[in-house]
Amino acid sequence: MNSKKIAIIGGGNMGMALASGILQTKWATPDRIMIAEPLKEKIDKAKSAHGIKASHSNLEAATWADVVLLSVKPQIMSHVLDEIKPTMKDSKLLISVAAGVTTAQIEKKVGGKVPVIRAMPNIAAVVREAASAICPGKYATPEDLKTARHIFESVGIVVDVDEDLMDAVTGLSGTGPMYVFQILEGLSDAGVKVGLSRDTANTLAVQTLIGSSKLIKETKEHPAKLKDLVTSPGGTAISALHSLERNGLKAMLIDAVEVASKRSSELGAQKKD
Ligand SMILES: NC(=O)c1ccc[n+]([C@@H]2O[C@H](COP(=O)([O-])OP(=O)(O)OC[C@H]3O[C@@H](n4cnc5c(N)ncnc54)[C@H](OP(=O)(O)O)[C@@H]3O)[C@@H](O)[C@H]2O)c1
Repeated sequence: MNSKKIAIIGGGNMGMALASGILQTKWATPDRIMIAEPLKEKIDKAKSAHGIKASHSNLEAATWADVVLLSVKPQIMSHVLDEIKPTMKDSKLLISVAAGVTTAQIEKKVGGKVPVIRAMPNIAAVVREAASAICPGKYATPEDLKTARHIFESVGIVVDVDEDLMDAVTGLSGTGPMYVFQILEGLSDAGVKVGLSRDTANTLAVQTLIGSSKLIKETKEHPAKLKDLVTSPGGTAISALHSLERNGLKAMLIDAVEVASKRSSELGAQKKD
């Protein structure tokens, strides 16, 4: 159990998923987590569902905490940093999950030598299966990174990357659940097209994705090798593969990740000083 107090600014999807994950791993007790959030309903829900502290004031939450986790939209980061700046000191750790916003932008905004860590989780944090990447800013210590790793490991797996790769992470795994939802919706529709009920098609599509992912994770094989295993001569898989290649599935995915990465860096560039 850690002894630090954590303020999560922004009690939306990601903020609440992180609060819930931290509580489930018992890394912090409810009295050591505070959510700061404008909406009264969300404040009430955080208190009743998780027993954590909550406030309408970002400044109050940041003043109370040792670790301030920013989980607001990139577009309002600048405003929130202005609010909490008076209480930010070098002994407080600031962690941001905002897409595109760099540690240098945050450091400049809060001033001093406040340690900053940038993280990019994904929405699977809600079920504690997130893929997160973290990177330190100029003043963050190995101990700060350890704290951030604990937080994000409470909702899934964590990798360390250099900051110049954070937009790439945002394009791949930060945005990644959306690609998978689209693929699953397509497979489910396909199942219905070939005569299955919607329920059966969904169930089979989801389990096929989980099983195939687990196979890759556990065998550590390259996906191409596993693809070779399931494509028997003249069989169904090689016919389907031909169709996927003809329609450019892989090129589509590469394009999507590339535009999402570019969009992430644009969001950072748009942020006002
Ligand atoms: N969701 C994802 O898949 C995902 C993945 C990786 C990273 N992220 C990052 O996580 C951050 C939050 O995303 P999200 O999906 O959790 O968005 P969200 O559900 O919209 O949560 C943002 C929360 O911030 C609150 N908020 C708005 N203005 C505020 C203010 N001035 N002070 C404090 N809180 C304020 C919002 O309240 P209201 O609803 O009342 O406006 C909302 O509850 C973003 O920066 C995003 O880039 C998200």
